[in-house]
Amino acid sequence: MKSGLEDVIAAETKLSDVDGATGRLIIRGVSLDDLVATSRFEDVAALLLDGLFDEHVDADSIRVRLGAARVALFQHVEAADAVLLALPPVDAMRALLARVEDGENFEDAIKLMAAPAVFLPAVLRMQKGDKPLKPDASLSQSADILRMLTGRVPSAEQTAGLDAYLVTISDHGLNASTFASRVIASTHAGLTSSVLAAISALKGPLHGGAPGPVLDMLDGVGTPENARAWLSHALDHGERLMGFGHRIYRVRDPRADALKTVLKPIFASGQADQARIALAEAIESAALALLHERKPDRPLETNVEYYTALLLDALGFPRNAFTGVFAIGRTIGWIAHAREQTLDGRLIRPQSRYVGPVPKAA
Ligand code: COA
Repeated sequence: MKSGLEDVIAAETKLSDVDGATGRLIIRGVSLDDLVATSRFEDVAALLLDGLFDEHVDADSIRVRLGAARVALFQHVEAADAVLLALPPVDAMRALLARVEDGENFEDAIKLMAAPAVFLPAVLRMQKGDKPLKPDASLSQSADILRMLTGRVPSAEQTAGLDAYLVTISDHGLNASTFASRVIASTHAGLTSSVLAAISALKGPLHGGAPGPVLDMLDGVGTPENARAWLSHALDHGERLMGFGHRIYRVRDPRADALKTVLKPIFASGQADQARIALAEAIESAALALLHERKPDRPLETNVEYYTALLLDALGFPRNAFTGVFAIGRTIGWIAHAREQTLDGRLIRPQSRYVGPVPKAA
């Protein structure tokens, strides 16, 4: 019995493969580097969902249908009352998403990919006391998210940055939230139920909740010269350094470098504070040196969350919304896995071993 189910194979998938020993991620036959260089949100949605529904799936028609779905879903934003808006953004987004009817066909999948893209920016604006902005069906999903967030049409670099992030995190093997999505799908409850369960798993700090605390760490360190002393103090007090370590990767997470590459043009074009990236690089070097000194037997390397924090901050997302942005991208993978499970899998129903008290003999 392994309480974390490490090394237990619980599904066969054609969707993605994570090789933790070599740091290689393949999404439906394409390496992450190639995918990030060539794809937008709509392309990776077409790649992951192809063949899993009765309908033909291609990126251009997904773009058109997502635009229409965003416009149609905006009506649900009215349901965001004061109680809902007092919740953390990912919880408020999840509450609005629960209003989307359960279903199993491609139009249901389109609605579920469009819904968080509309609800998260709307929630963030309303939490600041601003009016939510209506979706613009003519824009790509990434450009429209940034416009609804900031009120400005984003630059090409900013849109490319968000696309690269959403593509990078679109799928990642049988992680906790994806497993949750497959468990729900195995009961044939419907795609909305799968996505709601997956978001609930994602929000935990051991899964998708780490990038906000990465920024807190950057703020705490303050200057490159202070990095080693600050990080040593944190480790002395038993804290974990956010953005480092991974359950599967024993080498650097390939997603970290994919994101670092798209960060550079945003910072270089003056659309974000250049000093921030220098600080992040200094902290990363100091953290890796310290982790290698203190845990020589445990390879602890940079994970995806580290440069996610810098990228999403530079794009204008507040740090308490980072998990919600993660959900926008990973929704594609959750839906693909849910469909794969429904089409090919059985009801997931493992066994437990009873170790509690037994009734006294009469
Ligand atoms: N900082 C400091 N020490 C760390 C560490 C980190 N980021 N990550 C792991 N370690 C240490 C643990 O304290 C443990 O030490 P111990 O054996 O002396 O107790 C050892 O390395 C192994 O840790 P373990 O919890 O078994 O690793 P895991 O594979 O179960 O955990 C994470 C993986 C991601 C949960 C863990 O690395 C972590 O908490 N990282 C920080 C949070 C984060 O960045 N999450 C996003 C993941 S994408």
